[in-house]
Order: sequence, then C-alpha cells, then structure tokens
Amino acid sequence: MERTFVMVKPDGVQRGLVGEIIGRFERKGLQIVALKMMRITPELAARHYAEHREKPFFKGLVEYITSGPVVAMILEGKDCVGVVREMMGATDPRKAAPGTIRGSFGMDIGRNVIHGSDSRESAAREIALFFTESEICEYSLNL
Ligand code: CMP
Repeated sequence: MERTFVMVKPDGVQRGLVGEIIGRFERKGLQIVALKMMRITPELAARHYAEHREKPFFKGLVEYITSGPVVAMILEGKDCVGVVREMMGATDPRKAAPGTIRGSFGMDIGRNVIHGSDSRESAAREIALFFTESEICEYSLNL
C-alpha cells in the first residue's frame, strides 16, 4: 500500500488547524500509521528542503519551518501521494482551489499550512528523514 509524508507546518499548529487537517484525512479514508509533534532542527530543515537550497526564499523557509512545532505524520492508502496532494491544493494558497486545505486556510505561499510529499520517491526519502521504523505502526483496518 502506498504511503506519503505529511506535515502540518508551524502556522497550521499556531492557528489550531491540526485537528481539522487530520480529520479531513481520516474522513477521506486515509490511514494514519505514524504521528508526532516535533520541533524541526535547522539541520533537518536543510536536508528536507535540500532541493530549494539555491532558491531566494530558502533562508526564510528554514527560519519559518524551525520557528515552532510541526505535526508530522505518515498516511497510507491507495494512490495516497496523489490523493493527499489533491486534498492540499496548489502550493500557493491564493491559487489553491476553494475547498482544498490550502485553498480553505491560507493566503501566503510562505505560510501555506501543510506540506505533503510530491512523489513516491520524495515520500520514501521524507519518511526516512522524519521517522524511525519503530515509530511506524502496521495495523489492518477491520471495517
Ligand atoms: P512545501 O510544499 O513545503 O515545499 C517547499 C516550500 O517552499 C513550499 O511548500 C512553500 O512554503 C515554500 N515556497 C515555495 N515557493 C516560495 C516562494 N516563492 N516564496 C516563499 N516560499 C516559497
């Protein structure tokens, strides 16, 4: 079954959106297999956002993502990388479709509430960066 990495960013935590966001994924039918609140170190931020290292917004991005706790999770489900990206909406919340998470709750590309892996390869890399094997719960749904 496919897995993806999702993180409610510091602005989402500060604004009290954690429950709303997790609830959307649960109600959609995605399975939470790992979940934790944590503070991202500058080192972890630099590794997570390595592809943006040369971008003009990189310094601000690292400052922001390390500025307060985040809620990191692994979600599991069929096609879940794509399903989560559809539910999040476009990176820039002002361009995200109404009803998506960013479209509903954001106005600023630098404060876009949530991160989700953009491919299966990114998901595998990000899951390994944020979680150890022992933090992942394997369980079947008996629905
Ligand atoms: P995320 O999905 O976490 O991946 C990279 C992040 O960089 C992105 O969300 C945005 O928060 C941020 N980002 C992308 N483009 C810009 C930009 N032009 N200015 C500021 N932040 C940006």
